Amino acid sequence: MEQRKRSLGVLILAAGKGVRMRSGTPKVLHKMLEEPILYYPLRAAADAGFSDVAVVVGAGGEAVSSWVEEEFPESRIIWQHEQNGTAHAAKLAQEWWSSFDDVMVLPGDAPLITAPTLADFAASHRDGENACSFLSFTTDDPTGYGRVVRGGGSIRVVEHRDATDEQLMIKEVNSGMYIFDTKALAAVIDRISSGNAQGEYYLPDALSLIEEDGGRVNAVMAKSPDEFLGVNDQLQLAKAAGVMRRRIVEGFMINSGLQCMDPDSVWIGPKVKIGRGAVIHPSVQLWGDCVVEDGAFIGSFTVLRNSVIHACANLKGSVRMNDSAVGERASAGPFAFMRENAELLENAHVGRFVEVKKSSVGKDSKVPHLSYIGDAQIGEGTNIGAGTITCNYDGEKKNPTKIGRDCLIGSDTMFVAPVEVGDCVSTAAGSVITENIPDGALAIARAKQINKSEWSRLRRRKDKTNKA
Ligand code: UD1
Ligand code: CA
Repeated sequence: MEQRKRSLGVLILAAGKGVRMRSGTPKVLHKMLEEPILYYPLRAAADAGFSDVAVVVGAGGEAVSSWVEEEFPESRIIWQHEQNGTAHAAKLAQEWWSSFDDVMVLPGDAPLITAPTLADFAASHRDGENACSFLSFTTDDPTGYGRVVRGGGSIRVVEHRDATDEQLMIKEVNSGMYIFDTKALAAVIDRISSGNAQGEYYLPDALSLIEEDGGRVNAVMAKSPDEFLGVNDQLQLAKAAGVMRRRIVEGFMINSGLQCMDPDSVWIGPKVKIGRGAVIHPSVQLWGDCVVEDGAFIGSFTVLRNSVIHACANLKGSVRMNDSAVGERASAGPFAFMRENAELLENAHVGRFVEVKKSSVGKDSKVPHLSYIGDAQIGEGTNIGAGTITCNYDGEKKNPTKIGRDCLIGSDTMFVAPVEVGDCVSTAAGSVITENIPDGALAIARAKQINKSEWSRLRRRKDKTNKA
């Protein structure tokens, strides 16, 4: 007879204060590669295919829960107003986890866990018919972790602060990740006491109680201890970020053919997507929801956030982009800044010292030097001369500039917005454009030049006589 698949809920404990972080931010909201620490276990659980997830919040819980609601809206929030220990946190979630056959408990402060490890863990728990499984690992520096004490056919976890000198020597430690048969957990959870060095209710105490009840407890020794590094202070946060950084960069190099001549200096966040055969030069940062399509090039000192680089686009270095997009074969930089939905269409170019804000630069159009383009729409095939500025701000609000296709905008043109420029228009260099320009016209808006003959020579002569 085929067995019904056991249902599994994932409970993430994230109520702790994180005193050792020495910061006003709740521990699990500290950023690692620009995403909160809590993002990582939630993502690993989702990638492993577990869709029933609850998060226990407490310290800084308002901020933590509003982030969870935004990023993982399907997750349940459970409040633990006073942090009386990991077993207390699990107890408060009992009503929720009672509806599953098994509950997986994960610490919110162990961001390096991977989806395959969680999936294997769940499978081994199921296959072994265990009342409880937990992941242990060995480490040369077990300081702070609960030690796994094996002997007489039984297993228990002794917290660092409660351990004897002999137990402190044990290198096998508790990862803080467990799967419980919910009936077995329900039978022991109220028997866990707080008679220990910290006066807290320890979830690992459930293991020996389950064994006492005759349940089987299975310690699964994990293969890669890297995945269990807990973040308790700023040093561990930086260390975990380094491990995750390398994992992400190397993943793209191996799986997507990313060319990276100096992988040690490249930082890529966990949500970034990269197509095939992209090239990234040293000292680049890609954060948030960036997408880099096939064959794109990203030059040194470029920092991108939530931006899309379409196929074969070329960021020539020192480009900064927030919430913007660069079209196929388009190029930007060096030293370009694009923000708030700035968009370069196919084969467009913005060059040296150009800022583009909330604007679109049409196909094949160019803004090569020293310009500010804000709240503007530029058509196809238009060339914007050096030093051109859209004067979009009137002191109260931002006003739009519209420039048509195939225009030749002279250097140092000021567009005093709101203003509309037709197709195939030219402007004279140095013009201050305050009126709309019809299709096909040349606009000259500057004082007419007067040459005063011999004026300059005469003045110099006069200066010399005065000095003598
Ligand atoms: C815990 C384990 C330890 C294990 C280690 C692995 C206990 C008692 N000890 O120790 O055996 O080796 O993890 O990293 O469980 N939390 C709550 N509510 C609370 C207390 C904690 O939600 O009342 C959360 C914390 O936010 C954190 C997680 O539970 O995400 C673990 O708590 P923490 O205080 O960091 O436990 P450790 O001392 O690391
Ligand atoms: Ca911890």
